[in-house]
Amino acid sequence: MIQEGLLCKELEVLEVRPIPGSPVAHLFLEPLNLPFTPGQFVMLRPKLWEYDPLWPRPFSICDLNSEYLQIFFQVVGKGTNLLLALRPGDKVTCWGPLGQGFPVADRALLLCGGMGIAPFIALCKQHPHPERLKLLFGHRLPLEVYPWQDISDKVEKRASRQESEEELLLFEEELRESIWQYAGKGKIFACGPHPFLKVVHKYLVESKAQGYLSLENRMACGVGACLGCVARTRQGLVQTCTKGPVFKAEELEL
Ligand SMILES: Cc1cc2nc3c(=O)[nH]c(=O)nc-3n(C[C@H](O)[C@H](O)[C@H](O)COP(=O)(O)OP(=O)(O)OC[C@H]3O[C@@H](n4cnc5c(N)ncnc54)[C@H](O)[C@@H]3O)c2cc1C
Ligand code: FES
Repeated sequence: MIQEGLLCKELEVLEVRPIPGSPVAHLFLEPLNLPFTPGQFVMLRPKLWEYDPLWPRPFSICDLNSEYLQIFFQVVGKGTNLLLALRPGDKVTCWGPLGQGFPVADRALLLCGGMGIAPFIALCKQHPHPERLKLLFGHRLPLEVYPWQDISDKVEKRASRQESEEELLLFEEELRESIWQYAGKGKIFACGPHPFLKVVHKYLVESKAQGYLSLENRMACGVGACLGCVARTRQGLVQTCTKGPVFKAEELEL
């Protein structure tokens, strides 16, 4: 079923800010004057695309305020390459905010891998008590390319770079310890690439922690119409774009 009250709006590009020497960039668009929950996403389709690519692309809301909607993206293919080529004044059709974001949490452990940091920038900015948040960030690119400084120092944050198999294994161990230590103390939220989420999911289930994972399944319509984004859950296959992208860890079969 298509979500009710769905907003589709043409937004003007304010700025595209590539991070030199890296495959990532920030896109600033006119704001959507709507409330949102961190973890929700938007579907973007620049007007210049005409019929190629045909489908819009999904991106987490990294920040949304009265001045701009911010997307933090990595160039991986045709659509993201074309996003990088946008210029101020270009128009982008935007559907959103879409999906189910992270639930309210008085205190939480935030686990992010790579571009999975994007929704947590919004969450840390919106949280009334950032000092009650703990964030662990695993990344492959140098830390300077990520919006790390946008996360308040009140958040207990730690970044760890992995450039080898050995470092990945050490980080996996750190994730395991963090999850077991935090289980029972508050909610645990995670966002990142599939292999990262698989590891986090395993320890969340083992420790019976109150965990929530944000999935980045490929999406075409973003509104529940195409069935292109299904995730396997205990209730069967469900659409990630409308039932997620944030799911309770115990409901998911990864
Ligand atoms: C809810 C949600 C939130 C997202 N938030 C962000 C974000 O904040 N920042 C960001 O950079 N990206 C985010 N993504 C991923 C982003 O949508 C894809 O990287 C983008 O659609 C790729 O488009 P493209 O045309 O450049 O790549 P394509 O040309 O379509 O594909 C290029 C390569 O990327 C792979 N790919 C494409 N989409 C995905 C995906 N969803 N997951 C894994 N691999 C993929 C393809 O398999 C292919 O190998 C999010 C995805 C979802 C579902
Ligand atoms: S992307 Fe079309 S149903 Fe989810």
